[in-house]
Amino acid sequence: MEQIGATSRLLIRPLSPGDVPALMEILGDPEVMKHSVCGVCDEVATRKFIEWCSVSYKSHGIGPWALIEKETSAFIGFCGVGPEHVGDKEETSLGYRLARRYWGKGLATESAGAGLAYAFRVKECGSVVAIIEPANIASLRVAEKAGFRSFREVRFHGKEVRLYRITHEEWSESHNTSRSSRPRAAMRPLTADLGVSGYRNQ
Ligand SMILES: CC(C)(COP(=O)(O)OP(=O)(O)OC[C@H]1O[C@@H](n2cnc3c(N)ncnc32)[C@H](O)[C@@H]1OP(=O)(O)O)[C@@H](O)C(=O)NCCC(=O)NCCS
Repeated sequence: MEQIGATSRLLIRPLSPGDVPALMEILGDPEVMKHSVCGVCDEVATRKFIEWCSVSYKSHGIGPWALIEKETSAFIGFCGVGPEHVGDKEETSLGYRLARRYWGKGLATESAGAGLAYAFRVKECGSVVAIIEPANIASLRVAEKAGFRSFREVRFHGKEVRLYRITHEEWSESHNTSRSSRPRAAMRPLTADLGVSGYRNQ
């Protein structure tokens, strides 16, 4: 299957319909979905999420990716940037969910770094947001370790959340690279209406 990239411990590839059983096991875990606006996912919701990812890959060239542990070839969850409507604006939003047995090993931080590198280096995004409930300490920590520094508090799907933002400039400064020094990546046009609302499908 097509591979997007790799980190030291992970292979990163697009999600596909064949991932429904493995992803459903993760998104069906109430602990994993504790801070999700939709709660646990059944098979239909998981399939719908993967379908949305496929639409996003085609329309935006981005979307949550499957994370595969190199050592075991195990499917461990997803991470990536995707389109997200926040208020009346379409943002590029970083999201991640891992199976519980893989928590606490630095894998989300590793994959978040890859997601941001893709957003800024390949897709030349102006900024990326992360939408996190203040009670979700692990996720706050991952965002901070990935480089998010500033946030504002907003209401999102009925919840008070932190809207973190990292700009291309901030990311480039911490990665010793500048926008003007690289060739511009080819961008696909944004579609006006995907008929879906982003990560909040799951
Ligand atoms: C959030 C999530 C992806 C983190 O995955 P992970 O692989 O465990 O993350 P990492 O190991 O890279 O980093 C987690 C950090 O949070 C810290 N942490 C975790 N729980 C914590 C707690 N209760 N209190 C304080 N720190 C905590 C860890 O110590 C670690 O920080 P450190 O490296 O400074 O020690 C995982 O917990 C998850 O899938 N949660 C459910 C889905 C979710 O909430 N996704 C985010 C939606 S916004």
